Amino acid sequence: MIDKDYSPRKTDAWRQLESEAERAHQCSIVELFDGDSTRASTFSLNAGGLFLDYSKNLIGNQTWQALLNLAEQSPLISHRAAMFAGQAINTTENRAVLHTALRAEPEDANTDDERQRTALVKQQLQAVKNVSDRIRCGDWLGSTGKAITDVVNIGIGGSDLGPKLACSALEEFSHPHIQVHFVANVDGAEILSTLKKLNPETTLVTLASKTFTTQETLLNAKTAIHWFEKTLGLKDAQTSRHFIGLTANTANALAYGLPADQILEFAEWVGGRYSLWSSIGLSIAISIGFEQFSNLLSGAREMDLHFKQAPMAQNMPIILALVGIWYSNFLDTETIAVIPYCERLLLLPAYLQQLDMESNGKSTTMNGQPVDYHTGPILWGQSGTNGQHAFFQLLHQGTRQVPIDFIAATKDGLSNPEHHRVLLGNMLAQSAAFMTGQAAPEGQQHRYYAGNKPSNTLLLNELSAKNLGALIALYEHKVFVQGSIWNINSFDQWGVELGKKMATELLDQQATKSGFDPSTELLFKHIAENS
Ligand code: F6P
Repeated sequence: MIDKDYSPRKTDAWRQLESEAERAHQCSIVELFDGDSTRASTFSLNAGGLFLDYSKNLIGNQTWQALLNLAEQSPLISHRAAMFAGQAINTTENRAVLHTALRAEPEDANTDDERQRTALVKQQLQAVKNVSDRIRCGDWLGSTGKAITDVVNIGIGGSDLGPKLACSALEEFSHPHIQVHFVANVDGAEILSTLKKLNPETTLVTLASKTFTTQETLLNAKTAIHWFEKTLGLKDAQTSRHFIGLTANTANALAYGLPADQILEFAEWVGGRYSLWSSIGLSIAISIGFEQFSNLLSGAREMDLHFKQAPMAQNMPIILALVGIWYSNFLDTETIAVIPYCERLLLLPAYLQQLDMESNGKSTTMNGQPVDYHTGPILWGQSGTNGQHAFFQLLHQGTRQVPIDFIAATKDGLSNPEHHRVLLGNMLAQSAAFMTGQAAPEGQQHRYYAGNKPSNTLLLNELSAKNLGALIALYEHKVFVQGSIWNINSFDQWGVELGKKMATELLDQQATKSGFDPSTELLFKHIAENS
């Protein structure tokens, strides 16, 4: 467990980094390359089928060594061991954090506990295989005896974002006759317009909710149940073959009326935003088949093993985390942009927003004290080249510094050589332009590009299930490393509770419309009078 006196600010490395930062305004990335012909190869590495180039950063050798020292002087290594061993590192909820166990193989287990856990996971994944195989081969029939053509996953947050990202990223492998749809928002327009397009006889709903208590998911489920009842004349449609529950709270799913053999369980030690690897991933397995789903898990496992075993200086998640800490804590940047040059990864920034911001958007240390340094950055992004024609102007010539992660696949089976060459050419040109900048022609200051703008570039050989698994696990571990250094609990999410509670109170008080601040009461009144 973490040393009670630990604070990253108290380490020698932090102090050294503060003095490095004082000199950083003189640092030129271009000059770092000029002074070191090996920089590109030194500041790049392969892991888990991914290639990371982090040489285009405002980080010289001395700063880099200080960042590595920071990691060494932090509880990272013992915290990592505690996570993999299943200790309750999510202290505010007294829970282990074991999403890595969802992709572990029997040979990774060293203790009886670990062997039992792997056996349980394999059993739960076997259920995912059985159900997804039956749906995919037309053997799972709806109430009128027809095979399934459409699956609607109802879930929100981690019960939506991961499966939705994986299904859209891996559309190359999707089933030719089964479409998967995602409904998350409590905005009725989403579910109503989704259902309107579907035939209830051939539609299956997966109710994905770790807790089976989430307001949005339960209201959307109710609407779906009514739709089946109205269109097919079913009674208690949730008991029919049109519903499957994916949850860590089987008791709630049973109480909701789902049949026991239509509930696919996962363990409580799987955090919501880390759950795509569990039965929450059923929609992925239906879409791309269980074999490809297993490839996704095996890519993540490869990154787990790399994270566990590689020395710090060659450890991709640790490297990405340290680069981020340098900008957030020492160069005062507030956001990071993730720009995939791959339209099928369009949802990656949204996925990473939950992963990073729900995990590390904290200001209380593991010791229960307020932090006196910045924690998680604001993460945002969009696909390239689309972003180039929207917000890149600000990135090139605005007043703010935004470190960027560029991501692309070197080959693309769904594109063609001409498109792919232009796509990747644009990405490389952008990262080079951000770094080098350009002087303004005489009297045309508006054409000045300051340059010296940092970026990482991550290359996948191709957008396969295995590489996607490794990519997602890379960011999971990056977030973990940062949380360990910042000494915060990356695995709870108390910040979302207050808003949930106040929404419930506000909805309960609909009749009286009182008890809130004057602004909220006025808005409430305006809505009531105009709806
Ligand atoms: O409110 C935040 C959150 O708890 C996320 O962490 C989670 O992914 C999401 O809600 C959905 O929760 P559940 O899967 O329990 O419905």
